[in-house]
Amino acid sequence: MAISKFWRAQRGKEEERISQQPVERARETWSARDVNAFDGPHLAIQTAYEQRYLRRSIEYIQRRLVHPRTRPALDIGAGYGRLSMVLAEYFSKSIAVEREQGLIDEAQKFWVDDVEFISVETLARLNYLDGTFALAFTCTVLSHMLDYDVPIVLREACRVARGGFVLLVEITEPGYLHGTYGVKKFTKGRTIDEYAAMMHPFELDFVRPRFMGGASGPVLGSFVMFRDPTLPPGSASINGLEWDLPRAPA
Ligand SMILES: C[S@@+](CC[C@H](N)C(=O)[O-])C[C@H]1O[C@@H](n2cnc3c(N)ncnc32)[C@H](O)[C@@H]1O
Repeated sequence: MAISKFWRAQRGKEEERISQQPVERARETWSARDVNAFDGPHLAIQTAYEQRYLRRSIEYIQRRLVHPRTRPALDIGAGYGRLSMVLAEYFSKSIAVEREQGLIDEAQKFWVDDVEFISVETLARLNYLDGTFALAFTCTVLSHMLDYDVPIVLREACRVARGGFVLLVEITEPGYLHGTYGVKKFTKGRTIDEYAAMMHPFELDFVRPRFMGGASGPVLGSFVMFRDPTLPPGSASINGLEWDLPRAPA
């Protein structure tokens, strides 16, 4: 109770500061066209790399999950499911939660069996029991959220993935800001240390650059994996998983 009062107070203060554009108005700003800043070949290449590194990430943690295929994975802020279908390859099910109905409608034109799309009012309260998921995942969702919302969403991610892992694919460059903070579709970088502090007691498991295939420079953001503190750290070097980045042309 005390915590939610605290966050309500923080929210009040922050809304005052950005009163020209409170977060509620940021709804209905995400359509399939702006799930990514790119389309055409850029989007295809970026997505191919993200899917590749998502597979590598899951393969790295899979060895440490007991019976990984008996628990589902959760894509939080899944958009139209660009990456949700990869989760279905490894876990009992892929559940994709999304606030924008338009994106779910878009998704349902394509992904038939692999992913269960669930329309949600907010990502701050996920309607699942503690420890439901082996993995909870976000890709460029927190980077678009206000400071006071991020720890709330992360607390929910840790709760529903208790005993498992949380993977954040987010902008982590310090000081990165695209657009105006708090106004519609802004993008804000938060450092890995900032995310690690918010993820406590989950522990940092590994960090890899988010290679973009040149769509927005070679790298923008990171894959940041956290594990429940009851799980052991990974034993093999992550380089053993052939994560080396492609080389820039000479
Ligand atoms: C850049 S898209 C990424 C979608 C998907 N994860 C992907 O990588 O294709 C950002 C997503 O975050 C969601 N989102 C942004 N701000 C949000 C907020 N304040 N509350 C809930 N969802 C939000 C949008 O609806 C959208 O699906």
